[in-house]
Amino acid sequence: MTEPTSYSAELEWLAGGQPFSTQFADVYFSGDAGLDDARYIFLQNSQLSERWALLAPHAHFCIAETGFGTGLNFLAAWQLWDQVAPASAQLHFVSAEKYPLTAQDLHKALNLWPELAALAEQLEAQYSGLAPGWQHFSLANGRVTLTLLIGDLLDTLPQLDAKVDAWFLDGFAPAKNPHMWQPPLFRRMAELSKDNATVATSTCIDDVRSSLQTAGFSVRKVDGVDDKPAILCGERSNQPFAVVWQAPWFARPAPPARSERHALVIGGGLAGCSTAHALARRGWQVTLLERHAELAQEASGNPQGILYAKLSPHHPPLSRFIQGSYQYSLRLLHRELPQTENSWQACGVLQLAKNHKEAERQTQLAEQGYPRDFLYAVSAQQASKLAAVAVENGGLFFPTAGWVNPPALCRQLAHHALISTKPLVEAERLERVDGRWQVINQQGEILASAPVAIICCAHESARFAQSNHLPLKAIRGQITHLPVTTESRSLQTVLCADGYISPARQAQHHLGASFRFDRLDNQVSAEENLSNLDLLEALSPQLANSFADYRSQAADLQARAALRCTAPDYLPLIGPMADPALFVERYSVLAKDASQQPIAAAPWHEDLYVNAAHGSRGLISCPLGGELVAAWITGEPLPLPRDLAEAVHPSRFMLRHLIRGDRADRQKANNRLSPE
Ligand SMILES: Cc1cc2nc3c(=O)[nH]c(=O)nc-3n(C[C@H](O)[C@H](O)[C@H](O)COP(=O)(O)OP(=O)(O)OC[C@H]3O[C@@H](n4cnc5c(N)ncnc54)[C@H](O)[C@@H]3O)c2cc1C
Ligand SMILES: C[S@@+](CC[C@H](N)C(=O)[O-])C[C@H]1O[C@@H](n2cnc3c(N)ncnc32)[C@H](O)[C@@H]1O
Repeated sequence: MTEPTSYSAELEWLAGGQPFSTQFADVYFSGDAGLDDARYIFLQNSQLSERWALLAPHAHFCIAETGFGTGLNFLAAWQLWDQVAPASAQLHFVSAEKYPLTAQDLHKALNLWPELAALAEQLEAQYSGLAPGWQHFSLANGRVTLTLLIGDLLDTLPQLDAKVDAWFLDGFAPAKNPHMWQPPLFRRMAELSKDNATVATSTCIDDVRSSLQTAGFSVRKVDGVDDKPAILCGERSNQPFAVVWQAPWFARPAPPARSERHALVIGGGLAGCSTAHALARRGWQVTLLERHAELAQEASGNPQGILYAKLSPHHPPLSRFIQGSYQYSLRLLHRELPQTENSWQACGVLQLAKNHKEAERQTQLAEQGYPRDFLYAVSAQQASKLAAVAVENGGLFFPTAGWVNPPALCRQLAHHALISTKPLVEAERLERVDGRWQVINQQGEILASAPVAIICCAHESARFAQSNHLPLKAIRGQITHLPVTTESRSLQTVLCADGYISPARQAQHHLGASFRFDRLDNQVSAEENLSNLDLLEALSPQLANSFADYRSQAADLQARAALRCTAPDYLPLIGPMADPALFVERYSVLAKDASQQPIAAAPWHEDLYVNAAHGSRGLISCPLGGELVAAWITGEPLPLPRDLAEAVHPSRFMLRHLIRGDRADRQKANNRLSPE
């Protein structure tokens, strides 16, 4: 067995309650002076009061920090932001952290600062079990966003897509942590900086000063604090540095000057409601269009869905995407949707090993040192105890996951003063007229118009002329509703493997789910009720036995069928839309030589985005998908690593098609879309 990597900070507590890192043999801040020091070193030396007081309404400001530690600098900045920035402006704080503090340690450290208590409480309410990767937080009703890059910053910063206004260069004394203070860090800082970006740090050693200068910052010494006679601060000088080629097909569309912050979101399922919500939290007006009378009537209409984060120990893009978005979904649920018997329950999810291969995958994951409040391995006996029903296999336990009623979540997300929902409208066409997207129905009437539009219509997302190249496929699924039994009433956690069952909601379990590629209707089928009962048998023969009588009544069981929407690589499609014909024309050189580096900008459809193909895990991927779309639109830092933003980018299939002549994606999708 390999020794687990430690993902968490290892601390000792000095007299006065000051945290001390045993990994770096250094203090996080200087005793009682910690908050005053943070204000002087980072806020004052970056002239934040003055800069923020001058911000225009709706402006964005991005701070990037090396070393989140206890979050003290973050909270000090947030407090100042509240005091001086315009009410409509947005602060995005990005911080790299190799060893996050546990929630308990963070609480203990922040308890030292009573005047930050109200902000610390908001942070702590969302801070738990931080696994490696990008961890995204939306705070202060959306006015403050925090993205933590968990991992070594030499690995994470190259994947950051952001335009930084101010750098807080923290990270323990260079003598205690030479690994971090290296030229690649300073070069990357320069690449990510806006022209007038500032830098502030509590060190003033010559190596750091000259490295910052070499990277293109002009720095000066200012009065120090505590035992430091001087510290450094400065600005990015406009020295040119070598421009690195970036693939234009994944680049950010140039943000237009906006006089109107209004978006149309088409589709009122989890993807549409998450997108509308993410934009409204940023002060955007949203018109949410849905063809049914109510939100969440199609795939998002099941009474219970589960938060099923199926991870791979080898961390391919899909697994990394799931990991980050799963933790964001949990934060969003805790923030937005009070737990009730009807809405959602963080009752824990047991992922049971259905065979030897699965058990091996789970063992490898469990050995990777994830925080225990994220996941841990359990034997069959432990799993049975947690579930309070007998199961025959061990597996992984996700103690903070659970089940959700997706319609309740959709309604809650859309319940925002800036979101106006238009039911019973079906979009047939999209037209760009005078810098606005018009949504037009079958009769040719304009249903709504706004400068920005986001297509969130699941498998119907490819019905518009601008999106009909998207290789979407629909996969039918059915859940079976079972009345609670004496035996099943005791179930305490979600059980899942190929199928799933949750503790009862309104005296019913909702057993999931079938996968059918051969039909696209939503008539319930007895055969799929039976196959769902088979899936239950594999989870817990004891539970299955308590429902045994229903096997003979499969045709009469209550059930619900709907269509999932997936892409050929099972990753969602989230991001800006480009014109496929012009795309081929502009980048045709790649068909002959994929190593070419064309520089022509991609033929974007101005301000048109998509958020779809969430497969069988929309509860996990839609909320972060909404944040990602909002970040693309507003020009904020992307809430996930650049390679993952590209892995879910809607243009990826056009690119593969060009490079590999790969028509298989579209072909596969077509095969799946046509019923037998
Ligand atoms: C049987 C089954 C079980 C599932 N179990 C789980 C689970 O346990 N956990 C989990 O995370 N996920 C689960 N999923 C997947 C999850 O439900 C989906 O990933 C998620 O609902 C997708 O949300 P969406 O908004 O993209 O799609 P949808 O909910 O289908 O929403 C799309 C919306 O767009 C509207 N629309 C489409 N075209 C137009 C138009 N032209 N004009 C206006 N409106 C339009 C539709 O009416 C619909 O409301 C399950 C899915 C199924 C089918
Ligand atoms: C002095 S503490 C930061 C204090 C913090 N800014 C605060 O407000 O509490 C330095 C932090 O840098 C982190 N760190 C050190 N080396 C790192 C690296 N290579 N990548 C990311 N984080 C690192 C440490 O784990 C530690 O949390």
